[in-house]
Amino acid sequence: MKIAVLPGDGIGTEIVAEAVKVLNVLDLDFEMETAPVGGAAYEAHGHPLPESTLNLAKQADAILFGAVGDWKYDKLDRPLRPEQAILGLRKHLGLFANFRPAICYEQLTHASSLKPELVAGLDILIIRELTGDIYFGQPRGRRTATDGHFPGAEEAFDTMRYSRPEIERIAHVAFQAARKRSKRVTSVDKANVLETFQFWKDVVTEVGREYPDVELDHMYVDNAAMQLVKAPKRFDVVVTGNMFGDILSDEAAMLTGSIGMLPSASLNAQNQGLYEPSHGSAPDIAGQGVANPLATILSAAMMLRFSLDQPEAADRIESAVRQVLAQGLRTADIHSEGTTQVGTRDMGDAVVAAI
Ligand code: NAI
Ligand code: MG
Repeated sequence: MKIAVLPGDGIGTEIVAEAVKVLNVLDLDFEMETAPVGGAAYEAHGHPLPESTLNLAKQADAILFGAVGDWKYDKLDRPLRPEQAILGLRKHLGLFANFRPAICYEQLTHASSLKPELVAGLDILIIRELTGDIYFGQPRGRRTATDGHFPGAEEAFDTMRYSRPEIERIAHVAFQAARKRSKRVTSVDKANVLETFQFWKDVVTEVGREYPDVELDHMYVDNAAMQLVKAPKRFDVVVTGNMFGDILSDEAAMLTGSIGMLPSASLNAQNQGLYEPSHGSAPDIAGQGVANPLATILSAAMMLRFSLDQPEAADRIESAVRQVLAQGLRTADIHSEGTTQVGTRDMGDAVVAAI
């Protein structure tokens, strides 16, 4: 089992170190190799995703990724910015399916911005399409408008696009994931306004006919945004496009209390995957030893389950995390009265001890 370890920037190095510690205690046969990515790689090699890092990632069964980015790189040309590394990895590895579970742990119910009864027991899975949509559609750019409300004015434009195979493959991923859960899929679109999403809705409906055991419903994205804060437990698997998925998955993250708890997986058709916390490099707290490593540790558990075929080991990590929460250990982001505040390393050590 080859794992490429790409810690990246900011708190990335601190949290990935804890996940590696947890993986090492499992006594499985891993081959882990570390490489720079993001701003760290720009400093060392002049590029956020150097050839050597990309090759390591391509040859690995799975990639454990921290986070990239820092305000100090904001003035770099776009292709040299740290964030290009993650976009490049998604593109080069064909990572089209992004799994973002939003689980509200029993002990953290009060940390949610919603009333405890709305989130107690919450366990939803947002599946975001990752390689299409307005993020990559061409043409895009700036020009002088020749029509519209202000002809002659400077304008910018992007293109929203989805092809049938792109929608079909993400729909299959969603229906198959739902089969292992409560057998319900909600497809989120904006079919009332956008042709791209009328097509999305039509294709998801067609694919759904192959899964008669899974219940499918459709929801407009504005309503989905509302329902997520009104009655989030009505959802189980949510499947949507790249942009809506970006926004809704962050919204869902907040229901669970802290972004520091939320793992993610991005998979390609071969189940090769990139595993990373849902949060960024948190430059505001980097180097202080206070970041919550649990999102990254739980990402390592997803890696064991999805890419390395080690479901028991994944279970061991996840129950160890529940155990340390039950012990009352909390990093600053989830700390509350009556619990014990610990730093990044102590939290990692506690998970290791629980395993
Ligand atoms: P962020 O997720 O890094 O931080 C948002 C807030 O959450 C901050 O107050 C931070 O301290 C807190 N936070 C995040 N992770 C935490 C953890 N594990 N424990 C405790 N607190 C935590 O998002 P932000 O501030 O918008 O972006 C910072 C940098 O990260 C930017 O350069 C951005 O581009 C990059 N970024 C990278 C991502 C990636 O590598 N996949 C994803 C999102 C942002
Ligand atoms: Mg986001």
